[in-house]
Amino acid sequence: VITEKKLLLVASLARLCGLRASDVLYTALPLYHSAALLVGLAGCLEVGATCVLRAKFSASHFWDDCRRYNVTVIQYVGELMRYICNTPERPGEREHGVRLAVGNGMRADVWEKFLRRFGPVTIREFYGATEGNAGFVNYTGKIGAVGRVNVFLKKFVSFELIRYDVEQDEPVRDERGFCTPVRPGEAGLLVVKITKAAPFHGYAGDPEKTERKILRNVFAKGDAFFNTGDLLMMDREQFLYFQDRVGDTFRWKGENVATTEVENMLSAVSFIQEINVYGVSVPGKCCCGMAAVRLRAGTRFEGERLAARARACLPSYAVPRFVRIQEALEITGTFKQRKGNLVREGFDPNVITEPLFVLDAAKGTYVPLSAAVYRDILEMRLKL
Ligand SMILES: *[C@@H]1O[C@H](CO)[C@@H](O)[C@H](O)[C@H]1NC(C)=O
Ligand SMILES: *[C@@H]1O[C@H](CO)[C@@H](O)[C@H](O)[C@H]1NC(C)=O
Repeated sequence: VITEKKLLLVASLARLCGLRASDVLYTALPLYHSAALLVGLAGCLEVGATCVLRAKFSASHFWDDCRRYNVTVIQYVGELMRYICNTPERPGEREHGVRLAVGNGMRADVWEKFLRRFGPVTIREFYGATEGNAGFVNYTGKIGAVGRVNVFLKKFVSFELIRYDVEQDEPVRDERGFCTPVRPGEAGLLVVKITKAAPFHGYAGDPEKTERKILRNVFAKGDAFFNTGDLLMMDREQFLYFQDRVGDTFRWKGENVATTEVENMLSAVSFIQEINVYGVSVPGKCCCGMAAVRLRAGTRFEGERLAARARACLPSYAVPRFVRIQEALEITGTFKQRKGNLVREGFDPNVITEPLFVLDAAKGTYVPLSAAVYRDILEMRLKL
């Protein structure tokens, strides 16, 4: 349910990010999604700017479009920026009029690459859900951060990051049945208090689904919070960082593995074009890390290099045990990676026809996963 008030509120986000009447905003996101419809299109109507719509995103036509339509502001989701950064370099690619990029979900490595390659574009990263009752804007310029907590913000929206039990898939409750806030540096579930000023209107005709998004008796009997389903981390300077979706984080060897963090770290390996990390069930334990990888054109998978990168920048529990090479990674209409099918298919070489690899920690490399090794893992003769 999007009320008129909500529409106006979200539409003003673009102005807040710096959109002006003289701007030309370019969006290639689908209009059935609130980002393009409410932030982009409605945002242009709100300030009186020009909006350029493209029916289907094209990385190779992106800058040509920007030049042709005199675009000054672009709208993105993180994956689009990655596709743009992955296009072959062309002469004159810093020649464009784009001064501002507004969007969400850009990973730090892509953010840096984008600025280095395409010049000084101001990036306004925001965080929010269509149906949510609050959002953040990274107004600070800190790469990777989605925002910063301050007293001003705290006065208007009351949100907390609370301890979350990934295995039980629910917030941790103390002996009185209440939730506890996490410490700085610790990932927690973002919940936003539902108040008159921050209402949650729920889903049209689906009271059950609406109720599922509401967390009750969080810090006191009778209170109600909107459950964003997102794990965020706040550092000591009160910068907020997106960590993972609740269902995507998994537990391995007693530690939480945030799949987006692993993806961030490993996507720097030069033969990796795209990477999607998820947890698969192995006998005796739930959820061991696996990565689906799309290779950059003209490269091949190098197990040793991937293992070295993983060892250098990830704690050992977060290193993916399995790798699956794919021609194309499955994405949604709004460019979010799908994990469901991958999780279900697991790492069975009898079912998956694509190349599969398993980490050989002793040799420090990934080796092809044979049917024999698969059997050894199932019968627990081989320890992961
Ligand atoms: C872009 O700007 C140029 C120079 O000001 C102008 O001649 C041209 O008509 C503009 N293009 C569009 C599509 O508005
Ligand atoms: C977020 O960080 C970028 C990158 O440094 C910065 O340019 C921008 O001002 C920030 N975004 C917002 C909304 O402040």
